[in-house]
Amino acid sequence: MRGIRWKRTLTVIIVLLMFFEQYLCKLEPFVEVVTTNGTFNFIDILNENKKYQAIQDFCPLKIVGGKAVASALVPYQVALRKPHYIGMYWDSFCGGSLVTYKYVLTAAHCIVSDKLKLIASDIRVVAGTEVTGSMFLAMYFENWRRVEHYYIHMHYHTTFWENDIALLNLEKPFIKSIAVRPIRLHTSDLKVNVDVGSKCMISGFGTKENNEPSAELRMVCVPILPTTKCEEVYGMAYQRAIYWCVGAKGKDSCQGDSGGPLVCYGVQVGIVSWGSDCGMYPGVYTRILPLTTQQYVPFIQKNAICIRRNVVVVLVCFLISMYFVFQ
Ligand code: ARG
Repeated sequence: MRGIRWKRTLTVIIVLLMFFEQYLCKLEPFVEVVTTNGTFNFIDILNENKKYQAIQDFCPLKIVGGKAVASALVPYQVALRKPHYIGMYWDSFCGGSLVTYKYVLTAAHCIVSDKLKLIASDIRVVAGTEVTGSMFLAMYFENWRRVEHYYIHMHYHTTFWENDIALLNLEKPFIKSIAVRPIRLHTSDLKVNVDVGSKCMISGFGTKENNEPSAELRMVCVPILPTTKCEEVYGMAYQRAIYWCVGAKGKDSCQGDSGGPLVCYGVQVGIVSWGSDCGMYPGVYTRILPLTTQQYVPFIQKNAICIRRNVVVVLVCFLISMYFVFQ
């Protein structure tokens, strides 16, 4: 009789833990540290970024239309992944780009918005991958990194997504390989042709045509459009000083591509941000240049203290094994 009660209690604990594990981290308050002096200097990162040359641009070679692509051709592309099923499976929710081996540029709305607040320890950055998601065991043979801190632009607007830019500081740098290499950012000392009609490249793990999820990394070459095109479609929401207007019918980024790079002539000039009906209307990209010309980009460090998810997974496994031992 006592044995049965003990097992029942355990089962209830396991089920409750599995259920609440999803919320454990979210319960912790945000700790916000404004780091405009001293500890975090974007200019150091930009200086390091200048070491990296533009990558080979293959859009003029007429590879157009959404295609699966080898990570070696877009070695700066990373996937941001988060856990499902108590951390057993990790799926890509946004893209990003390596600006150094230790810093990743992405969209702020991937991490914080009106509906969302991710914590650093819930995010994994995967480089050199061509698959959208994988089992947690893949971390032992893929290039996975934890995020130590993330930095959100101080003037990022959680509803309108202006200044939609964030930097992730990885716990450990990635190791250079044929499929892992940072991309040169657009700075004022670098002349890049971003005129209307320029063919630029976007890549990511996001949704394909007809809202179909993508299992693999894909890329497409897209033209830069006149700002008037986006002003026509999006009205006041489109601001020419901070956005690029990009795309063609059927050639666009889509849900899940956010945070990924817009690359012209081998240099990253933008970040996937927003747009209506993928492939029907132009996509809107955050401009890198206005941000990199500022001596000091006011980033805010946001982080949270959180019970490590792995601790919970180990605990659940322990309880399950105890259950079988005492059965
Ligand atoms: N906001 C989307 C994301 O979070 C990206 C949308 C891009 N849309 C577009 N039509 N280009 O992944």
